[in-house]
Amino acid sequence: MAISFDEKTRIFKLDTATSTYLVKIFDEGYLLNLYYGPRIPDVNVRGRETRPANASFSLANPVIGENGFTPDTAPMEYGCNGAADFRISALAVRNAAGDSVTDVRYTGHRIVPGKPGIPGMPASYVNSGDEADTLELYAADAVTGVRVTLYYTAFRDLGVLTRRVRVENGGAAPCRVERAFSCCVDLPDMDYDLITLPGRYAKERNVERRRLAHGVQGVESKRGVSGHAQNPFAALAARGADEEHGWVYGFNLVYSGNFSILAECDFNDSTRLIAGINPTDFEWTLAPGEAFDAPECVLVFTPDGLGEMSRIFHRFYRENLIRGRWKHEKRPLLINSWEAAYFDFDTEKLAAFAKEAKTLGVEMLVMDDGWFGRRNDDTSSLGDWTVNEDKLPGGLAPLIERVNAEGLKFGIWYEPEMISPDSDLYRAHPDWCVHATGRTPMIGRHQLVLDVSRADVRDHIWGMMRRVLSSNRIDYVKWDFNRNISDAASALLPPERQKEFFHRFILGTYDLMERLVTEFPDILFENCSGGGGRFDPAMLYYSPQIWTSDNTDPLERLSIQFGTSLCYPASSMGTHVSACPRTGFETRGNVALWGTFGYELDPCKLTREEKAAVRAQVAEYHRFYELTHEGDLYRLISPFDDPCRAAWQLVSPDRRTTLVTLVTVREQFRAGVRLRLRGLDPERYYRDEATGEVFSGALLMNAGVVMTRVARRDGESAKLVFTAVEEQA
Ligand code: GLA
Repeated sequence: MAISFDEKTRIFKLDTATSTYLVKIFDEGYLLNLYYGPRIPDVNVRGRETRPANASFSLANPVIGENGFTPDTAPMEYGCNGAADFRISALAVRNAAGDSVTDVRYTGHRIVPGKPGIPGMPASYVNSGDEADTLELYAADAVTGVRVTLYYTAFRDLGVLTRRVRVENGGAAPCRVERAFSCCVDLPDMDYDLITLPGRYAKERNVERRRLAHGVQGVESKRGVSGHAQNPFAALAARGADEEHGWVYGFNLVYSGNFSILAECDFNDSTRLIAGINPTDFEWTLAPGEAFDAPECVLVFTPDGLGEMSRIFHRFYRENLIRGRWKHEKRPLLINSWEAAYFDFDTEKLAAFAKEAKTLGVEMLVMDDGWFGRRNDDTSSLGDWTVNEDKLPGGLAPLIERVNAEGLKFGIWYEPEMISPDSDLYRAHPDWCVHATGRTPMIGRHQLVLDVSRADVRDHIWGMMRRVLSSNRIDYVKWDFNRNISDAASALLPPERQKEFFHRFILGTYDLMERLVTEFPDILFENCSGGGGRFDPAMLYYSPQIWTSDNTDPLERLSIQFGTSLCYPASSMGTHVSACPRTGFETRGNVALWGTFGYELDPCKLTREEKAAVRAQVAEYHRFYELTHEGDLYRLISPFDDPCRAAWQLVSPDRRTTLVTLVTVREQFRAGVRLRLRGLDPERYYRDEATGEVFSGALLMNAGVVMTRVARRDGESAKLVFTAVEEQA
């Protein structure tokens, strides 16, 4: 069992491959977070329950034990509001009397094999019952009747613990959930750096590292979407921890809406981290008997540095989050029309793309924005999901037939949660957009947001999508979301429930996406949001790949891909070679090889040399597919550490092949770059494909390889491939 309960000490022990997590049922039913760190065999951690309460006003009430237990200094398993724990709280429920004092204590528990799902929400899953155990810890507030279930799933063979929370109204009167965080972790010290992934449009997910300080710090979104500005990811890394060494705790919310990940360091120099739905503009009314489910948080602990943390996240998302046909089946290599044509295309142009792309080895043509309504620029037609026959005479069928006749599959673009004021849909239903009473809603990219928290709106949009998807041979859908949500309110919600809007909106999105993957299980689904503005684990539950950024400049892409890789696998990162002139074709291909790989250019405009380069890249894409989609990633030189270059390595699951890529951003005069490889078998011998030389894995990982006379100029890059040989040459 990955989870056990010791009756004598009343301690739960949750073991993953790399960590132990201990929860104690303390006196008076208080649940305490005794330990989270490297695996230990014992359960009895001493001195954690009762830490000296040094602050003069720290309440010691109730006084339990010799040291004077107080919730203010104890490692509370799920810190509640207003009951003498003064740190950031994970739970606050306003009761019928109008106060938000919340105090839940242990009432029972259950340990079950496997992992139950969350109704209506994305969550990781087990492939077989013996992969993980789940602990359900029950707690209740004796005064209000509020009941809480804390769910923990420990994955036996991976360093992953998932957590989530259900809040139920077990009382006789309605209550209001003001905050219900998905997880709360109390660590006994504060010697950590907080690592987060801030960004912006076309510059997503930069790695930022800061030292924890007393007070509250963290990242949040209140854009209605996880967003470009912050990602629902944070890590606490021990001081000095780097790619290969040191304790790291990673937290990633399986949520696409407003989130908060906050760390508070208190007067005792301890750290509490909470992760969950952002309490700003959130409240949820529960009638007696009703329940609220908070989204899941994935926790990874490793004592072996950030690189290992990332690899654990990657394996977990590939195996236990991404679903459906395209989880492991080889995905078609695509060309997308956006940067090649923008809104300016018709059947002839796209058919010509397909014909040319076929000769290059491309397997699918994706028709991006501009095929519906009267959409010739971004000012109209979102919501009118009927084919623009001026561009595509006779509808989609004649185009798809021609694309299929070339042997290519066909994909299409949607932005289902949006509505243009200049659209038939808006003219028919002006109240279907997200808007607040008495205000003219703000426009963003000439569009409004469609209120998909409403079932009638969802049914209508789905009906339109379904008609197109079921009457045509469509193999791929790119699902976009190109603005943030302002004026957050829903015309159908009563005033006292308006603060439910943001979460209901996301539940509506999940419902639509679930309909897509259920009814069209063969469609390959790629998520997008103005590039990578909704790159989060919840989206990976529906779409195995996400467009990483609208920025396809390979040098700019380095930091975007390095940052994204902190928790998201290469198989999920949409990466295309575009017409961006800043580097040659080779570097564009080498950078795009670290991801799903595809093209975003006009194939008819390529020179003969470029076409030859594309064919060679396509061959490499096939050759290295297993490495990028199933292999392990090692970040060798990060552009966040070295502004002049970047290097990374992909290793096949059997550790017999590795692809090493070096990109020079800005050349400095130096003899060469030494790369110490990672993840190889030290006992094995490997052949350098370029030179035929054979080296031991141990040598490659310790002495390393010095790359000279390659990638010497700005924007140049080089690859090395090593494959295992049976004998030492
Ligand atoms: C977003 C996407 C692009 C493209 C356009 C279309 O910006 O990120 O890839 O699909 O929308 O309008």
